Amino acid sequence: MRRQCNLNFGWQYSPEESGDRWEDISLPHTNREIPSGYFDDGICSFVSRYRRTLYLDKQEGKVYRLCFEGISSYAKLYVNGRYVCEHKCAYTDFYADITNFVKNGENEILVIVDSTERADIPPFGGVVDYLCYGGIYRDAWLIVTDCVYIQNVYCYSVSPVRERDLTVEIALAGGNAEVKVILLDGDHKIATAGSQSKDGRARTRFLRLPVELWSVSSPKRYTVRVYAGEDEYTLFYGFREAKFTAEGFYLNGERLFLMGLNRHQSFPYVGYAMPRNAQIEDADILKYTLGVNIVRTSHYPQSRHFLDRCDEIGLLVFEEIPGWNHIGDDAWKEQTLKNLYDMIIRDRNRPSVVLWGVRINESEDDHDFYTRTNALAHSIDSRQTAGVRWKPHSEFLEDVFAINDFVPLYEEPPLRDPHLETGLDCDVPYLVTEYMGHMFPTKITDNEERLARHALRHAEVQNLARSNRKISGAIGWCAFDYHTHRHFGTNDKICYHGVMDIYRNPKYAAFVYASQRSVKEGLVFEPATIWAFGERDIGGVVPLYIYTNVEEVVLEIAGRESMTYYPAKDKFPHLPHPPVIIDKMPETWGCTWQDGTLIGKIGGKEVVRREYSSNPLPDRLELTCATKKAAKGDSVRFTVRALDHKGNVMKYFDEIVSIRVNGGRLVGRSEIALQGGMYTFWVIADGNGAVSATAEGARLKAGRAEIGLSEYESHYSL
Ligand code: GAL
Repeated sequence: MRRQCNLNFGWQYSPEESGDRWEDISLPHTNREIPSGYFDDGICSFVSRYRRTLYLDKQEGKVYRLCFEGISSYAKLYVNGRYVCEHKCAYTDFYADITNFVKNGENEILVIVDSTERADIPPFGGVVDYLCYGGIYRDAWLIVTDCVYIQNVYCYSVSPVRERDLTVEIALAGGNAEVKVILLDGDHKIATAGSQSKDGRARTRFLRLPVELWSVSSPKRYTVRVYAGEDEYTLFYGFREAKFTAEGFYLNGERLFLMGLNRHQSFPYVGYAMPRNAQIEDADILKYTLGVNIVRTSHYPQSRHFLDRCDEIGLLVFEEIPGWNHIGDDAWKEQTLKNLYDMIIRDRNRPSVVLWGVRINESEDDHDFYTRTNALAHSIDSRQTAGVRWKPHSEFLEDVFAINDFVPLYEEPPLRDPHLETGLDCDVPYLVTEYMGHMFPTKITDNEERLARHALRHAEVQNLARSNRKISGAIGWCAFDYHTHRHFGTNDKICYHGVMDIYRNPKYAAFVYASQRSVKEGLVFEPATIWAFGERDIGGVVPLYIYTNVEEVVLEIAGRESMTYYPAKDKFPHLPHPPVIIDKMPETWGCTWQDGTLIGKIGGKEVVRREYSSNPLPDRLELTCATKKAAKGDSVRFTVRALDHKGNVMKYFDEIVSIRVNGGRLVGRSEIALQGGMYTFWVIADGNGAVSATAEGARLKAGRAEIGLSEYESHYSL
């Protein structure tokens, strides 16, 4: 039997290469917490050590392996004082066979972690527009198996829509075994087959299975359980056909426009080191809050928890290799090929992943190198490949032409013509993988006019992309603001490129995406205003964009009905839900500023209303908890918002708020200033009961928010 033990707890950490300074920590861990802004961009760039005692009841004939899911960016492993092996990538699994190094009883594990930006490890060698932090920042495991064990399992369907077929390829380590594969729908067995492996390989094929397809609206997954000798391995599989064509993207034979955002996996204070819940919640934010159907894991393989959730909820993924603009020497390229291999082997069973990014983001052409990355990807998986470029006419070696189409705001149209970008005289599968970003950095604290312009451009790009069937989709830059190096971002070293801030709180642009869903999936009604006369240049709140999926909007001023407005189909004919635009209002300089009410209607009936006071006054701090369950070591996310007496966020409320927590450790500071009237914080549960928080300001108090704890469950994939 396979035994898999979580090793997140019981570590000691030393921020030094040598010496006796150790502190007790648990994983995920960042080698150094960083301030919320104005940090040194080399703050995490040093060598540190992690150690842990491992008690084993060592048995003959067993194999003992360690797996570290993410160490940034280089690790050397020692067991009982002896060097075992190294790993050179911040984003791929580090497996180490420690069988010959461990003994019965107490063993000492030591990991030396080099988080300096080493030019031999992608993405480093040039400049990089993001921080890679440091430390053992994902989960760690001990895996105990017999000598013959399942090394990896590969599931694929050649014709999922027509044949409902499934092939399962199993690679064994340590010899041969009887192999059995069972396909289950929950607990219900659907099919089973057995074979004897040869040369450490076995293959099973099922045809015409009674299964449903996996899709974004119905992400049905089945369980594949593989037995080989004494070993057992389980994964989830979804039957689906994903295809980029010159006429757009098709999922299970149906055209689907891909509306997406890029995601960096960074968080305030701890960078990458956020546990499972935070990863799951990011996928949920993308799918349910922002309403996108695809995410690009820019620019590296991301957390298994994040991707598991994408599979589970039906969020498509474009996953790419680590890298940013720079291509290094031959050894660097070999490392990239290894990263690509590790990424695909880890994630090729995922229904959510529809595209492999096999080119270093925005790098120059390199014919031989990219011929090799494409060939490698195709040799281990049948998915299509893409190479994200910024340069028009660059060599097209992949299956999908992917381009970062950054058009400045003073240029129209907001996207370039695919033919001009490809330089080819025929149509090819085409995907826009970035737009906006540094063309118009926007903070959640910026004034209304800028935030509204930011949102509008996102809407303009999405509208234009949908107008052209040759464009498979458009993935904006980006979901969340992120920490960066001095060569990018503002002088606090943050790139304010997100449609949400780094705390995952929305700017108006977030609602451009959110409002494209049907009302059945959730009513959205978000006027891009704080309703103040003197916020914008010259004054007033027009043009006022309301991002919504209602059918009409009534504006009342001072309680009197004034006008009805409709979605701007003329300006945004291709958006499922164009914004409602109010472009005239009677207010002028020196007149009295009045209360306003916006009423959303469907079928002539009021479904939502937003009231604005001309004299907003602080009313309360609202504290909510987005997390439903957490186990020891997992995160719980709370958001505090300063509201006026009409329930609107007071964007410029800058009083200090004190946060107190119980049942866990607060990530970041306990005395904070709200940003844009909001602040989100995470608590790492200590596993001793409920996690709760309070937030309190000098003028405002908030209630307590609390959640319970549950067992730590984990699904593990090789
Ligand atoms: C792109 C790059 C992204 C990010 C973005 C900012 O060129 O691929 O990583 O830097 O610019 O707009």
